[in-house]
Amino acid sequence: MAFFRSVYALSKLPFRVGQHSNIANSIRLLQTESSGNNDLYSELKELIPEQQERVKKLKKDYGHVELGKTTVDMVLGGMRGMTASLWLGSSVDPEEGVRFRGMSIPECQKALPAAAPGGEPLPEAMLWLLLTGKTPSKAQVDSLSQELRSRAAVPDYAFKAIDALPVEAHAMTQFATGVMALQVQSEFQKAYESGIAKSKYWEPTYEDCMNLIARVPAVAAYVYRRKYKDGNFIPMDDSLDYGANYSHMLGFDDPKMLEFMRLYITMHSDHEGGNVSAHAAHLVGSPLSDPYLTFVAALNGLAGPLHGLANQEVLRWIRHVVQEVGTPHISTEQLKDYVHKTLNSGQVIPGYGHGVLRKTDPRYTCLREFALKHLPDDPLFLLVSKLKEVVPPILTQLGKVKNPWPNVDADSGILFNYFGLTEESYYTVLFGVSRNFGIGPQLIWDRALGMPLERPKSVTLEKLQELSAKATSS
Ligand SMILES: CC(C)(COP(=O)(O)OP(=O)(O)OC[C@H]1O[C@@H](n2cnc3c(N)ncnc32)[C@H](O)[C@@H]1OP(=O)(O)O)[C@@H](O)C(=O)NCCC(=O)NCCS
Repeated sequence: MAFFRSVYALSKLPFRVGQHSNIANSIRLLQTESSGNNDLYSELKELIPEQQERVKKLKKDYGHVELGKTTVDMVLGGMRGMTASLWLGSSVDPEEGVRFRGMSIPECQKALPAAAPGGEPLPEAMLWLLLTGKTPSKAQVDSLSQELRSRAAVPDYAFKAIDALPVEAHAMTQFATGVMALQVQSEFQKAYESGIAKSKYWEPTYEDCMNLIARVPAVAAYVYRRKYKDGNFIPMDDSLDYGANYSHMLGFDDPKMLEFMRLYITMHSDHEGGNVSAHAAHLVGSPLSDPYLTFVAALNGLAGPLHGLANQEVLRWIRHVVQEVGTPHISTEQLKDYVHKTLNSGQVIPGYGHGVLRKTDPRYTCLREFALKHLPDDPLFLLVSKLKEVVPPILTQLGKVKNPWPNVDADSGILFNYFGLTEESYYTVLFGVSRNFGIGPQLIWDRALGMPLERPKSVTLEKLQELSAKATSS
C-alpha cells in the first residue's frame, strides 16, 4: 500500500457495477499516485481538476439514478439510512466501522507515518490522507507539520474573548468562543468581500482551514490551563509535531501520552458526513459561511451528550458507580444493578449504541488495544472492560436498542484519566480539536467541487398524514 492510494470515496456510491461498468472503470482509471510533492497545497491543486471533471460527469450522466426512497420513518426518525450527501474523507459500514479514504484503522496504523518507526500514526498524516486520498511519505508529513507550526500564532483577542467568560463556563463553551473569535482572521470572508470568482473559492477556504487546524490546539490548551490549572499557560514547542505539541501545551509530556494523543486525534478525525458535527459543518458551510463559522457550528453539535459529550458522560457515569460502591473493584452483579438503575431512571448508558454502527466500534477496539499495551492493570480500565461484558446483554434485553455495543466514547476517557488528564468536562474539547481534521478537508472539497447550498424539503405533520393516507389508499 505504501505511498499510493486510490481516491476511493466516490467508488462507494451504490451503483450496481455490472450495470454501470463505465463509471466503475472511470473510477479505477482515476487512481492517483503521489507526485512526491512535499507541499500539500500543490498536491491538492493538481488533484482538483480531475475530481471536478468526475463530479460533472456523474451529474450529467447519472443525475437521474435513484439511491433509495424516503419513508415516513426516515422523516420522523432523524433521517437514519437516508443517503443524502457527499463526503470524501471517510465512510462508515454498519458492520465494519470507519474507513478513511478506503483504509481501515489497522491499515492506517500500518501505512501512515509515525513520529518514530512502529509508533502511532501522526495526525498530520491523517490530514494529508483525508484531503488528498493518498498516503503521505514521512517527508510530506514533516513538511506539513512544519507548515502547521508556522501558521499557529493565535491573536490575543481570541484569548481575551475566552477571558470574558466565567472560568466555570463549560470547556466547550470557552473553546467555541475562542474559535469564534479567530473568525476575525478569515481569508475567505475577505476574499468574498473583494469579489473572488467562484472557481477560486477553494483557495481562501484552504488557507482558513489550515490556519484553523494550526491554531485550534493553542486555543484548546488555553481553555484547559485557564479552567483547571489556574491560568498557568505553557507555550508551544517548535520542535514538536501537532499531537505532541497539543499534549505539551496541556501540560502532559509523558512519551506514552504523546503517542496516545497522536492516536486519539487520528482516530477521532472523521466518521463520514452524516454524524451531527460533520453534518452541521456541511450544512453551515453550504451558504459559503467561512470555515471558522462552519467549524463552530460543528463544535456546538459535538457538545451534545448524545454525540461528542458522551466521552465526558462515560467517565462521569463510571465515577458515580465507583463512588456509590466505594471502590473501583466492582463485582459483575453490582455493575449490572447500576446499569439497571440508570436505565430505570430513564437515562441512556453513555458510550454504548450508535446511529449507524451495528457492531463494536473499531475505534473503541483500537483505543482498547492501546490500553491493553500501556495500562492493562489500571482499575478504571478493568472496570470499562467488565462493562463491555455487562452492558450489551442488558441493552439487548430492552428490545429496542439497535446497537448494544460500545462506541468510541466508551474507553477514551479512562486513557486520558490514566495519563493525568482527569477533568472529564474537558474531554469533548479533545474530540473537537480532532474533528477539525475531517471537517476542514471536506469543506475545501465542497468549495472546489462547487457544492451548492444545502436545502432539503420538510413537511408539516398534516402533509405527512395526507401523503401517508394517499400512499396507503392506492
Ligand atoms: C448514539 C445514540 C444517540 C444513537 O441513537 P439511535 O440511533 O436513536 O439509537 P437506536 O435506534 O438504537 O435507539 C432506539 C432506542 O434505544 C435507546 N438506546 C440507544 N442506545 C442506548 C443506550 N446506550 N442506553 C440506553 N438506551 C439506548 C434509544 O434511546 C431509543 O429509545 P426510545 O425509542 O425510547 O427513544 C444512542 O445509542 C445513545 O443515546 N447512546 C448513548 C450516548 C452515546 O454514547 N453517544 C455517543 C455515540 S458515538
